Amino acid sequence: MPEREYAGPGSAPPGGPDAIVAEGLTRSFGARRALAGIDLRAPAGSVLGLLGPNGAGKTTTVRILTTLLRPDGGRASVAGHDVADEPEAVRERIGLSGQFAAVDERLTARENLYLVARLYGMSRASARRRAEDLLDRFALSDAADRPSGGFSGGMRRRLDLAGALTARPAVVFLDEPTTGLDPRGRADTWQAVRDLVADGTTVLLTTQYLEEADQLADSIAVIDHGRVIARGTAGELKEAVGGDRITLRPTVPGTAGAIAGVLAALGPYQPETDRRTGQVSVATDHGASALQRALSALEAANLGVRDVSLAPPTLDDVFLALTGRSREPGSSVEDLGTRGRDPAEHHERERGEQDAAGTRRRAGRRKGAHAWRR
Ligand SMILES: Nc1ncnc2c1ncn2[C@@H]1O[C@H](COP(=O)(O)OP(=O)(O)O)[C@@H](O)[C@H]1O
Ligand SMILES: [Mg+2]
Repeated sequence: MPEREYAGPGSAPPGGPDAIVAEGLTRSFGARRALAGIDLRAPAGSVLGLLGPNGAGKTTTVRILTTLLRPDGGRASVAGHDVADEPEAVRERIGLSGQFAAVDERLTARENLYLVARLYGMSRASARRRAEDLLDRFALSDAADRPSGGFSGGMRRRLDLAGALTARPAVVFLDEPTTGLDPRGRADTWQAVRDLVADGTTVLLTTQYLEEADQLADSIAVIDHGRVIARGTAGELKEAVGGDRITLRPTVPGTAGAIAGVLAALGPYQPETDRRTGQVSVATDHGASALQRALSALEAANLGVRDVSLAPPTLDDVFLALTGRSREPGSSVEDLGTRGRDPAEHHERERGEQDAAGTRRRAGRRKGAHAWRR
């Protein structure tokens, strides 16, 4: 195979054409509708975060955009080429790092990367050089000659990511790059993504973590049941949800409503009650002092609280605020509760995408914040 010329990701003009465009993507598996019409747009050189719980349709979207799966409807283009009409051209310009690291465990890290480089048509010398560069960049040089089967989860992910970057793709897809990693592995992966972006690569990253999207993404599409239910920057998302959140668990089940009433009276934010967990949560701009005020008011009202937390909003909070319901039971490893479903919830789900103004209206959010619809 002749050695190819790699234009390099830096060749995309800043603010130039969209590197990723998806319009009305639909896809079903048998009777199960995985995608119900997904629209996405990522300018060249930006990071688009696809944020959603398990089963939302993230991997299906990535598989369509990387030409591994055909959509039932809609269209998409990546790096200027239509995924259905020109799959080869798309494949030449992308890298994919999947939810489960694809490394050959019998080979060393160096051999893995050399093999990938050769598969991309590089000469022996170029492949060796590229493998060295990537080992260095992903802090794998010390482990380069060990079989990758003995690597930690974080090292495997780094090796998989390095493999995805071998041919200097213009657009990189990272499907849940940090799920299952320890904090150290997560921090390393985040740094690798930042380095990529500094090179001008366009990145689509899927995640279940609002914080991860916050750290890495220029813009975020929140997806649920195969639809985009909100989009904006992490700041806009958080603003729509409110600042930090106070979450309380009543001592006596059934007093959540009364607790929510007391918190509502303190204002300015409207508390939300999660019927599944029995917890009451409310946004606050004043951190610990607001927490103190809330606890005093509840004590005065003789309402006991079993435990309480003050924390930045999570994906769960975003979902609760956007859809008026918590995430599906069993939709994540830490979410193993069970919950009944009622028609009202179904109705909420069918309403589809919302803008932040709608979210704030419903939840009584602060005034003056700008809308964050595309
Ligand atoms: N190959 C498949 N066969 C049947 N159902 C599938 C298949 N792939 C995905 N699904 C279903 O489609 C929905 C979306 O899945 P997926 O895109 O993997 O979600 P996510 O990556 O956000 O967790 C889920 O309900 C899932 O069970
Ligand atoms: Mg997935």
